[in-house]
Amino acid sequence: MTQKTATATMSFNGKTAEFPVYSGSIGPDVIDITKLYAQTGAFTYDPGFMSTAACKSSITYIDGDKGELLYRGYPIEQLAQQCDFMEVCYLLKNGELPNKAQYDDWNSRVRKHTMVHDQLTKFYSGFRRDAHPMAVLVGVVGGLSAFYHDSLDITNPEHRMVAAIRLIAKMPTIVAMAYRYNSGLPFMYPRNDYDYATNFLYMMFANPCEEFKPNPVLSRALDRILILHADHEQNASTSTVRLSGSSGANPFACIAAGIACLWGPAHGGANEACLQMLEEIGDVSRVGEYIKRAKDKNDSFKLMGFGHRVYKNFDPRAKLMRETCHEVLNELGLHNDPLFKLAIELERIALEDEYFIEKKLYPNVDFYSGIVQRALGIPTKLFTGIFAMARTIGWIAQWHEMIGDPEQKIGRPRQLYLGAANRNVPDMKAR
Ligand code: SDX
Repeated sequence: MTQKTATATMSFNGKTAEFPVYSGSIGPDVIDITKLYAQTGAFTYDPGFMSTAACKSSITYIDGDKGELLYRGYPIEQLAQQCDFMEVCYLLKNGELPNKAQYDDWNSRVRKHTMVHDQLTKFYSGFRRDAHPMAVLVGVVGGLSAFYHDSLDITNPEHRMVAAIRLIAKMPTIVAMAYRYNSGLPFMYPRNDYDYATNFLYMMFANPCEEFKPNPVLSRALDRILILHADHEQNASTSTVRLSGSSGANPFACIAAGIACLWGPAHGGANEACLQMLEEIGDVSRVGEYIKRAKDKNDSFKLMGFGHRVYKNFDPRAKLMRETCHEVLNELGLHNDPLFKLAIELERIALEDEYFIEKKLYPNVDFYSGIVQRALGIPTKLFTGIFAMARTIGWIAQWHEMIGDPEQKIGRPRQLYLGAANRNVPDMKAR
């Protein structure tokens, strides 16, 4: 239980109510308003949750002003440089970095679950070949509930651990299968002798008629992309997973709900939208035209990959993603990639523009991720699928934390009602 550190007093409707204030280990205090309605008869009003802490958590911390992102207290910069994605998965799920024995055991458990039930491969043939991969992922991951729901007691920690391992292990296989199906290529079985990122690139691009070992520089780049996208506090898709899980829904259904939410262009869909925007701009000479549109209140156009609800200085992931972009393009001899040059110029111009400075709009994680994924050979429509593959561990860690919280209740917000007051149904003739 959190300790009260102060008291907030509210006077309203001639009544005075007091509310406990709690302090976290770092970050803003919270005012506990759970008794507000009982004491004042009023709700708070906070659409978009601009000022609302929906839960307690020990997993990820963001300081938007400092541009700081910590996974279990470790700075993202150090994790991206010193660890691999499997270490980060272990950290997010268990709270501490693994030692060698724990790392080897964790890797071995994940590798034993990389295959999917053979019946699941039949799901793909129900989709059109040109179905958007995110539509396929929502359907197939939701379908995992049909294979495991009956062997899952979410109150049993071991059952929860097996479900977590299954989801972490199977997401690359499911995402790669969506790409192979879309391209008319045969599914590739996972290779348990390859690391996580290498195995994914293998399942994506291998040709069953010959040996294929992905370029280790590209595997490392993908592994870092996965680390950068692994978790991010109570973002929209994580909140969706938590809300779904609060009803007792099984983790496979909850992750499918998270994938659906992540698909939106204001959220994880921004990387796909950003690359489409760069391709539409096409040339540095047209950057000014689009900056003007982004500033025009009468134009719904937004500069995709820019802005963030929390980061009001810079997104530390965008800086690391730009470095990874450089590495991959140099490795592939694409350092003169016109889109990358366009993105660098667009970032420079935007960051010098009064509007972007005043509104504190900086590149976010999605701004460069599309360019580097395109260089890796990943099709634009699959970018958000890669984001979902990476974020699965974050969703699972947050779901697990929620289920394990003795104070957890079903999420059920209220509303400010603006509709008709109580009235009688008129006879049809009188309408
Ligand atoms: C992700 O929450 C997370 O942590 C998400 C994420 C994660 O890891 O889970 O970080 C991943 O979703 C990153 C964000 C990717 N989305 C985009 O790049 C889409 C473009 N960005 C915007 O849609 C917007 O910036 C949001 C959705 C990211 C943030 O929206 P907010 O916090 O609700 O801010 P807002 O829309 O109210 O914007 C504040 C002002 C507005 O102008 P005013 O109404 O005050 O005049 O800034 C403007 C906006 O019009 N603005 C932009 C802009 N983003 C905000 N103007 C032009 N271009 C933009 N990109």
